[in-house]
Amino acid sequence: MSPATNGPAVASPLMPGPGTAGTWPGRQSPAGGGLPRLLPPAGQPGGDLAAHLGRHGPVPYRGEAARLIPEVRAAGLTGRGGAAFPVHRKLEAVAAAGQGRAIVVGNAAEGEPASHKDEALLRLAPHLVLDGLQLAAEAVGAARAVLYVRRDVHAGTRLEEKMTQRYGRGLDRLAVEVVPAPARFLAGEESALASLVSGGAAVPRFTPPRVFERGVDGRPTLVQNVETLAHLALIARYGPGWFRAAGTPDEPGTMLCTLHQADGSATVAEAAFGTPLADLVSLSSATAVLVGGYHGAWIPAAQASRLRLTNAMLRPLGAFTGAGVLAALPADRCGLVETARVARYLALESAGQCGPCLNGLPAVAAALAELAGLASEGGRGGGRRPDSRVVSDLIRWAGLVEGRGACHHPDGTVRFIGSALRVFEAEVREHQRGRCGAGSSPPFLPVPAGPSTDADWS
Ligand SMILES: Cc1cc2nc3c(=O)[nH]c(=O)nc-3n(C[C@H](O)[C@H](O)[C@H](O)COP(=O)(O)O)c2cc1C
Ligand code: SF4
Repeated sequence: MSPATNGPAVASPLMPGPGTAGTWPGRQSPAGGGLPRLLPPAGQPGGDLAAHLGRHGPVPYRGEAARLIPEVRAAGLTGRGGAAFPVHRKLEAVAAAGQGRAIVVGNAAEGEPASHKDEALLRLAPHLVLDGLQLAAEAVGAARAVLYVRRDVHAGTRLEEKMTQRYGRGLDRLAVEVVPAPARFLAGEESALASLVSGGAAVPRFTPPRVFERGVDGRPTLVQNVETLAHLALIARYGPGWFRAAGTPDEPGTMLCTLHQADGSATVAEAAFGTPLADLVSLSSATAVLVGGYHGAWIPAAQASRLRLTNAMLRPLGAFTGAGVLAALPADRCGLVETARVARYLALESAGQCGPCLNGLPAVAAALAELAGLASEGGRGGGRRPDSRVVSDLIRWAGLVEGRGACHHPDGTVRFIGSALRVFEAEVREHQRGRCGAGSSPPFLPVPAGPSTDADWS
C-alpha cells in the first residue's frame, strides 16, 4: 500500500470547539483513508455529545475483558504520546498483571510547550477520548479510570460536565476521575504521572518496576496518551482494516501534529503517516525544521523537503515523529540561539534527582548559552566572543550525561542539542567569533515565561 496522499486536515488549536448541539447531519463513519478521523470535519460542530453520537454512535463495548486486544494488534496502533510503543503489548501486559485491580489513565499532561494537539483533541473531540478510556478499561479489566489533564486545559474544557452527561445516558461503565496535572515538561512522564495520581509530586520515579506492573497506588496501571485512546475508540468501531487504510504498512493510521510555520502561526492538523513534511510545514522560507519537539532533532529544510512523516525515514537522522511537533525555523532566526533558550528551559525543568540532571544538564545548558551569547548583555545572542573551549566542553559534558538518567529527559535533551550543533554548524562558527546573524529577532520556539519552582510539582 502506498502512503495515503490526503493533505492534512487542519483545526485551530487555540479556539474552543463550537459545541453546538443537534446540528450533525446524520450518522457518518469517517471514510477509509479520508481525513479527518479524530477531529470533526471543517465547519462541523465538535465537542458536544449529540454531534459525537450522531457521527460515531455509542461506545462499542465487547462485553468481556481482552476481546478488543486482537483488533488493536491487527490495526498496528502505536502510542501517540511520543515513544510510538505498540499499544496491544501494553494492554496485554496490564490485562495479565491486573487481575481486576488495574487502573487506566488517559494522559493529557502535554508538558511539551510546543505541542497543542491533546488540548485541541479535548476541546474538539473529548467524547472520542472518553470512549477510548472506557474501552481500554474494559480491555484490561480495570476497576478505576483517570483522566490526567494539564491544569489550564482542565479549567477550560468542562470535562466533568461532559462526564455527568455521559453517565446519565448510560454510556460509561466506570466513573472517570479527572486529576489536574502541573504544567511542567516532566509531568506527563508516566512514572511522574503515577506518582502525582497516587498523591505525591509529579517527578519521575526510578524504574523498574515499570508503571504497568506497579503504578498508581502500587497497582498495575495502563497509561496511554489521550490521542491513542481516541484512535482506539475508532478501531473498536470501524476495525483494523479501516485503520490501516491511512498511513503506511509499517506505520498505519493518522496522527495529530502541532505545526509551527515560519510566519509564526501555529495549528493542529491530523495527518496520515507517510505525508510529505513539505505538505505540513512550508519550507520555502525556513532554514531548518525541528521534528519531534524538544526531545526531537533539527533537520535542514532542504533535507526535510525529501522526507515523509514516518519514523522509518526520520530515525536514521536521529529524529522521530514523537508527539507530532514540527517547527519550521524562519530564515531570520538563529537556530543556535533558539536551541540555547529551550535547553535552558529543559535544564530548569529537570527534577534534579539524579546526577545527569543535577550537574550535567545545567552545565550543558550554560555552555550552550555562553556559545549562543545568551549570557551576554541583552541575552539575544552574539555580541561577545565565548571562551575558546566552550564547544569541546559542551560536547564532553553532553557525552557524560547520555544514558545516565533514571528517565529519558537527559538523553532527549542532549539529542536535541547535538542535532543543533550539527545542523547549525555555520552558526556555531559565527558565534565562536562573537557574531550572530539573527540580530534582535524575537524568540521563535515557545518557552513558558514563568519561573519554575518546587511548588509547581503538585
Ligand atoms: C520527559 C517525558 C515527558 C513525557 N510527557 C508526556 C506527556 O506530556 N504526555 C504523554 O502522553 N506522554 C508523555 N510522555 C510519555 C509517557 O511516559 C508515556 O510513555 C505515554 O503517556 C504512554 O502513552 P502512549 O503509549 O499512548 O504514547 C513523556 C515521556 C517523557 C520521558
Ligand atoms: S534523569 Fe533527570 S528528570 Fe529524569 S528522574 Fe533523574 S533527575 Fe529526574
